[in-house]
Amino acid sequence: MQLRVLGSAAGGGFPQWNCNCPNCDGFRRGTLRAQARTQSSIAVSANGQDWLLVNASPDVLAQIRANPELQPARAVRDSGIACVLLMDAQIDHVTGLLMLRERASPLPLLATPEVLSDIGEGFPITRILSHYCGIQSLPLKLDADLQAVPGLPGLALQPIALSSKPPPYSPFRHCPRPGDNIGLVIENPDNGARVFYAPGLGEVTPDLLALMAQCQIVLVDGTFWTEDEMQRLGLSTKSAAEMGHLPQSGPQGMMAQLDRLPPGVRKILIHINNTNPILQDDSAERALLTAHGIDVAWDGMDLIF
Ligand code: MLT
Ligand code: MN
Ligand code: ZN
Repeated sequence: MQLRVLGSAAGGGFPQWNCNCPNCDGFRRGTLRAQARTQSSIAVSANGQDWLLVNASPDVLAQIRANPELQPARAVRDSGIACVLLMDAQIDHVTGLLMLRERASPLPLLATPEVLSDIGEGFPITRILSHYCGIQSLPLKLDADLQAVPGLPGLALQPIALSSKPPPYSPFRHCPRPGDNIGLVIENPDNGARVFYAPGLGEVTPDLLALMAQCQIVLVDGTFWTEDEMQRLGLSTKSAAEMGHLPQSGPQGMMAQLDRLPPGVRKILIHINNTNPILQDDSAERALLTAHGIDVAWDGMDLIF
């Protein structure tokens, strides 16, 4: 089973078009040791030809261009993307659906009813797409057993309800429902190997930690280093928690949570915000992650399991 990181940045990407924070500015000036990153998305395949696209980022067209594996070219119009799954309804995770409108048949879309309601009403992508290729919505059962993915044999998924936040445009922004944000266990049924993926994660509960401990790889929320990162830079009035993200630092932060996993589990951060000092390859914060055995995902990273 192959998991390809298409986009490892949070909303806005890195560098962000209008941002002059020390990271974005330093990247443009060439004074920073760091790689550019596109907005949050991964692709998973059991056969290297047919892919599950997890989140459809505003950068999806550039991501397909950068990853020719997603374009096996078996017919005059063809894509390796067999199905799309949405982790939530955030703009940086769903807008790419509009870019896939040239499909000849309805796009199979796995999402919870909560996410489908946000992208049918608040940000009515599915209504707009009904005038193009349309979508075939497929039910995503939460906290059930492993599920097969239609059209993608050799792949099993278990969606998990997470504590995080629906998007700012959602009527449920301030009263989140189970299903607004999910984590995903991706299993290779041939060998039982599992990856846990959660680009937006506000809280690591004991149950979730136990589930993560059963996985070979955890690929989780790396948005912010500190709770007040955006506020301190004068970029936002919102804290990490208000945005549904657990920062890495602090006694209860992501690093401390990941430290509690058994030694064999590979730990990787993804969905990195452009303000986060871990984007600098030689920062003290990055060195601390390395000392804790935690990697930072990059665009094009491959995980085989
Ligand atoms: C998030 O997941 O919180 C987003 O990256 C926010 C955004 O799209 O700006
Ligand atoms: Mn995001
Ligand atoms: Zn920035």
